[in-house]
Amino acid sequence: LNVREEKYRPQFHFTPPANWMNDPNGMVYYDGEYHLFYQHHPDGTTWGPMHWGHAVSSDLVHWEHLPIALAPDEYGTIFSGSAVVDWNDTTGFFEGKPGLVAIFTHSDHDQELNRPRQRQSLAYSADKGRTWTKYEGNPVLASDTLVDFRDPKVFWHEPSGRWIMILATGDRVQLYTSPDLKAWTFGSEFGQAEGSHEGVWECPDLIELPVAGTDDTKWVMLVSIGDNPDCPEGSRTQYFIGDFDGSTFTNDNAPGTVLWLDHGRDNYAGVTWSNADGPANGKLFIGWMSNWKYANLTPTVSWRSAMTLPRVLSLRNGSEGIRVIQHPIGSLTALRGETKQWGETAVVPGRNLLEGVHGGVCEIVCELEPGEAAEVGIKLRASEDEETVVGYDIASEMLFIDRRRSGESAFHPEFACKHGVRLLPHEGRIKLHIFVDQSSIEVFANDGEAVLTDLIFPDPRSTGMELYAQGGSARLLTFSLHVLKSMYSA
Ligand code: FRU
Repeated sequence: LNVREEKYRPQFHFTPPANWMNDPNGMVYYDGEYHLFYQHHPDGTTWGPMHWGHAVSSDLVHWEHLPIALAPDEYGTIFSGSAVVDWNDTTGFFEGKPGLVAIFTHSDHDQELNRPRQRQSLAYSADKGRTWTKYEGNPVLASDTLVDFRDPKVFWHEPSGRWIMILATGDRVQLYTSPDLKAWTFGSEFGQAEGSHEGVWECPDLIELPVAGTDDTKWVMLVSIGDNPDCPEGSRTQYFIGDFDGSTFTNDNAPGTVLWLDHGRDNYAGVTWSNADGPANGKLFIGWMSNWKYANLTPTVSWRSAMTLPRVLSLRNGSEGIRVIQHPIGSLTALRGETKQWGETAVVPGRNLLEGVHGGVCEIVCELEPGEAAEVGIKLRASEDEETVVGYDIASEMLFIDRRRSGESAFHPEFACKHGVRLLPHEGRIKLHIFVDQSSIEVFANDGEAVLTDLIFPDPRSTGMELYAQGGSARLLTFSLHVLKSMYSA
């Protein structure tokens, strides 16, 4: 079977050619190429000894798969981490020229203490990431006491002229500084009493972003939290807004404030590209489109897992304070095929404006006015037995995804679910930008104010659509349906 014909194979989301994938790693833009590395088990479709898989792209839509970049060695397997361009050869790896350095976690077992051990190490490449050499001085950062000590994200901090590493250390993050990526000094820690602690802290990131409409910038800290069997949400990503002075992060919000990056179930361990500020002064982000609750059980055969769409992160100061805004990358419009449009129309209960219209792999841009309805929304990937609902409940002001009847779901008891986020209409309207692939749905609401990312496993033949209202009529203002071409063909 041709890869693109495999059941559930995403047509515009990144997937490994075969076998297991989890976190995105080492994203860096260099010499015209976006690099994407990923946690990879090349010998099976479930999590196993970790390697870094590798792909490059010039547009973040079409990907060229490259050989495995990092494989396990005498210090262990290769867990998550980041990559940077060492422009000034601070490492001395590149004879004064620029080059790529990966900073990752080596994971093994400490025989003496009989427990897992995680240490940070380096690898470098002088040929645009095609071949990698592990640093002979590995590991470069270890802990005598901490067992959870992983996922280094490194960036160059211009004002203090040094590298900063943010590291996940159990119930907090730690910040380290270095002149050369080899010698690291402890700076500070953050988070023990802040945000959500429903799971172990993993895959942090720390980025500076302008606040739209002002001359200010703020620092955003992303922190993923692992699965907790007692939480239906499973693994997910929170963020903090604050300031960073080169050694310490201070939170703008009260310690108990929890801000979620995504209100769907399948956006985890995401971080941003190094050296790639997107349009509108954003940062380019990508997440792993799965959830540790059921990641090893999803019903694909030859490979497992996909990444979210690449997104541009920015900041907006809204009624509730400064919040992260997400936009899908603009280059996706290259995949738009046939387009159908509808103008202003009433959405009347019992009447489906989209009767007979098919949207399988597609993109939808629409604006709705709830009007007199109690609930209004769109059913996607629909057939007699299946539907994935993107709906808005007026009384509770909740935008939701209901994937209880979305297709295969028996692989985990908590997969079939309905979940959402509170969202207020803007000038009486709800704006939705929706991407539907063979096994996922992403909803960007009100210009990126709220995002829901979910896996779904519908029958490939379930391509029906329904625009619906309940309890009264709603109003459709605009509706565009773009069939999306496969990245494997277009
Ligand atoms: C997050 C994570 C990381 C770790 C990697 C191992 O999903 O648990 O903390 O480095 O996956 O594959």
